[in-house]
Amino acid sequence: MKQLELTSFVLFLFFLTESLPLPTKPQDADDFSVVQKFIEENVEYITTIVFAQYIQEVAFEELQVMINNMVEYRDKCVADRTLPECSKSANEIFQEKTCSMEGLPQKYNFSHCCNKVDFERRLCFFYNKKGDGEFQSPFPTLEPEEKCQAYQNVRKPYLHSYVYEVARRNPFVFAPTLLTVAANFEEVAKACCEEQDKATCFRAKAAPITRYLKASSSYQKTLCGAYMKFGPKILKSINVAVFSQKFPKVEFKELLSLIEEISSMYDGCCEGDAVQCIRDSAKVMNHICSKQDSISTKIKDCCGKKMLERAECIFRLNRDDKPKDLSAREPKFTDSKNACQERDINPDNFFAEFTYEYSRRHQDLSIPEILRISQVYEDLLGNCCNTENPQDCYSHAEEKFNETTEKSLKIVKQECDSFQNLGKEDLKYHLLIRMTKKVPQLSTEELVFLGKEMVTVLTTCCTQSEEFACVDNLADLVLGEFCGINKNRTINPAVDHCCLTNPAFRRHCFESLEADKTYVPPPTSRDLFIFHTDLCQAPNEELQKKKDRFLVNLVKLKPGFADQELRSLFLTFTAAVEKCCKAQEPEACFNEEVISFLFH
Ligand SMILES: *[C@@H]1O[C@H](CO)[C@@H](O)[C@H](O)[C@H]1NC(C)=O
Ligand SMILES: *[C@@H]1O[C@H](CO)[C@@H](O)[C@H](O)[C@H]1NC(C)=O
Ligand SMILES: *[C@@H]1O[C@H](CO)[C@@H](O)[C@H](O)[C@H]1NC(C)=O
Repeated sequence: MKQLELTSFVLFLFFLTESLPLPTKPQDADDFSVVQKFIEENVEYITTIVFAQYIQEVAFEELQVMINNMVEYRDKCVADRTLPECSKSANEIFQEKTCSMEGLPQKYNFSHCCNKVDFERRLCFFYNKKGDGEFQSPFPTLEPEEKCQAYQNVRKPYLHSYVYEVARRNPFVFAPTLLTVAANFEEVAKACCEEQDKATCFRAKAAPITRYLKASSSYQKTLCGAYMKFGPKILKSINVAVFSQKFPKVEFKELLSLIEEISSMYDGCCEGDAVQCIRDSAKVMNHICSKQDSISTKIKDCCGKKMLERAECIFRLNRDDKPKDLSAREPKFTDSKNACQERDINPDNFFAEFTYEYSRRHQDLSIPEILRISQVYEDLLGNCCNTENPQDCYSHAEEKFNETTEKSLKIVKQECDSFQNLGKEDLKYHLLIRMTKKVPQLSTEELVFLGKEMVTVLTTCCTQSEEFACVDNLADLVLGEFCGINKNRTINPAVDHCCLTNPAFRRHCFESLEADKTYVPPPTSRDLFIFHTDLCQAPNEELQKKKDRFLVNLVKLKPGFADQELRSLFLTFTAAVEKCCKAQEPEACFNEEVISFLFH
């Protein structure tokens, strides 16, 4: 695996040190061997993650074969690291072994990746991953008693199967996050299996784990999606904004070196190279913890924890306070006469520093808003530096920043007003109608899913004091996932444009979308509106889903209708459900009440 390659690499460095003054502090070597040991000890879990994330349909038994292969490989290389195969990277070995499993590439349709080599092959495996919309199979749920029995009798295979089930449904989550989730889950199992009321215990204790997984997953996905589509610059800007808000006391130079390390972590992590990702994220954590004094006083407790827990702890940590003496704005950018010259020396650094200074002063803004303002500033200088009196021109920068912010605030205010005025259920219908009009080509499933996500964002955020940042951050994550992580989606020209536009302005772009006028409802829609008696027996949640689907299909059928008309048709439908379920022959009743008014 890759750790072996790195071992030889480090040995190589030791030789080099005789002639070159390379800094190989003993502490670094220590950190390295800790991570190394961790990886070697967790080969089974790591293999499970990689395998299940790349080939999501794979059966658990097939995974077992792969685990055995990799364990054997580890043992062989630990015994003799000079073997030629031991100098390859983990991902390379992994993909080689996957491709050589008999019949597997054909069965799961990835032979085309196996025909490629090196970078092309790695990229192919990455592109092959299916997003949320494409791989849907419900998470197998065991009764708590069964869970505990499985856990107590066959602890390891049970935990493997847990990791397998989570990983294949979250193919883009970084390996360290999944390992943390698995470790937390084991803690829960340990505690809850001792309890009388196991079910209640599992429910209560598993909820924060699920929340952590979901939050990390959508954050990581959105960052990887932005990185894959727009390149390293956007990734760097996001990271600068996030870390400057979180650690406003850090100096810019220190922040930059941290950001370099964080950004390069995304190469391995986004691609799905679990071993590299674990190694890089350990490096980032060591960096943060070794520079505590200059980064933040709040991270001490986190840094006292073990490798995996550190990252989770820092992720959850609240923002540090601003330095007390921080001026309202940094004169260098808008008040100095040299801004253009400074920019020209090193534009990337200059704008990164702007983002840093703006973020640490505006901890109440969302990350997308910081990116918008940075873009506005970049564009402004682009114009002003070509004028006769640049300083005059860019001295109005703050007004421009405020204009952008006000536009974003207005969008959020409207969204939260809808939430306050309509309540949760009507809000969902309102959003479903609006979204379906904008993207009627999307599957009904996905539209219902997106509607639910947006309702969750608004109900989570609209009562909070930091309403704006909360809505804008989370809604942007929903859009990020929607726009795709490893694929460019082609839905309709207007939507595709919003997804390919600067991610900072993605929200504004979607907001300004109108109903898609090019859309023509498919002629076969009628089948979608045939209802059976099972509708009447559906449990509440199921019925709710059917109603949501009906509404979406209705908008797809009558995209030209006004929102109000659609609402009233929908009400007719819900009334018909009530009425017909009491009738002698519900199906005939549905036919009469629903089909007739839709297709007369
Ligand atoms: C298999 O993958 C290829 C290449 O991605 C794709 O064109 C084809 O439709 C896939 N076949 C099935 C059955 O999924
Ligand atoms: C911009 O907005 C901030 C915060 O609302 C305010 O303090 C500042 O005076 C505004 N500046 C301008 C030039 O409008
Ligand atoms: C998606 O589009 C971007 C920008 O046009 C391009 O750089 C990228 O390679 C595309 N990605 C895929 C998976 O086709």
